[in-house]
Amino acid sequence: MYVLGIESTCDETAVAVVEDGKNILSNVIYSQAELHSAFGGVYPELASREHINQMIPTIKKALAEAGINHKQLDLISVAASPGLIGPLLMGTTAARTLSYAWDIPLVGVNHIDAHVYSAIMSEEKKPHFPSLGLVVSGGHTNLYIIENINTYKPIGHSVDDALGEAFDKVAKLLDLPYPGGPHIEALAKKGTLGPIQLKPGKVKKAPYSFSFSGLKTEVLYLVKGQNSSPKSPTILDPSQRANLAHTFQHVAFTDIIKKTLLAANNFNLKSIYIGGGVSQNNYFNNLFSKIKPSSIDLHWPKKELCSDNGAMIAGLGFHHQKEKCKDFQVKPTKILSL
Ligand code: KG4
Ligand code: ZN
Repeated sequence: MYVLGIESTCDETAVAVVEDGKNILSNVIYSQAELHSAFGGVYPELASREHINQMIPTIKKALAEAGINHKQLDLISVAASPGLIGPLLMGTTAARTLSYAWDIPLVGVNHIDAHVYSAIMSEEKKPHFPSLGLVVSGGHTNLYIIENINTYKPIGHSVDDALGEAFDKVAKLLDLPYPGGPHIEALAKKGTLGPIQLKPGKVKKAPYSFSFSGLKTEVLYLVKGQNSSPKSPTILDPSQRANLAHTFQHVAFTDIIKKTLLAANNFNLKSIYIGGGVSQNNYFNNLFSKIKPSSIDLHWPKKELCSDNGAMIAGLGFHHQKEKCKDFQVKPTKILSL
């Protein structure tokens, strides 16, 4: 079964063709990061307009790279929620239009579930269920129990900033470009733990939830001085900046890892599937492997499936269609009511 996957929830216009939920024939990602870098974050109206410009060329490129004709497609799968409303409308309108014009069934996929699925589709091995899912992206920091390939039950989330968002905001405070994650990771390599103290955020009565806004404010005061504002000048020297980047990522990742392992222990789950843009961070990957007990397996997505992409949308859409999940069997006009 050939599935066309369309992703436009934020600032990537991404389209892929995937066979039977796993075999990636093409995975075209047009990133708008440069367009938004001047703003230090995604500018929703600009993102919507750029999706309009890029959607049709990206669909054409994905079909050409897969070497197939649209008549060979069996299904269109689109990221239907959550996301920025304008960008979501661009992708779902394109998907609805093509579904109608080409007379191909359409399925809607939850973007965050698809990030968890990206780690599942990255492996040849059959997945273990039930297992734990962790998404660390620019918009979400969520923990799930994966009951089966189509059922992702949320058990925890960030009550304020997502982890990627916190990386981007801390990067902005340190005058690093957007998206900030890779720049913080690079700067952190020059720093060390010890000279700077930071505390992770606590969420009362929610052991599997996260909070990063307090950590971000602690960083603000260290970078610019107590009771300063984001526009105040930096008071750190280069080595203090590096130590701060190192300590910030260490504290944030340790907090996430501990809570994830607590959930794995309490629910007796032995496999953890990790997804989202922040999962590209090598320090995170090494730290998780170091802290976790040997009885727990970690599953990471392939590099090209970490950030927003159409392949994970096509992949999970295949399973929704195959299992005839009622929730996802949407008529084109109902797509946004998912
Ligand atoms: O999953 P994603 O591409 O988009 C969303 O669905 O949000 O995640 C983007 C986020 C950005 O906040 C970016 O700074 C972060 O992923 N990111 C990283 C790294 N690479 C990307 N964060 C930490 N370390 C990285 N190496
Ligand atoms: Zn995402």
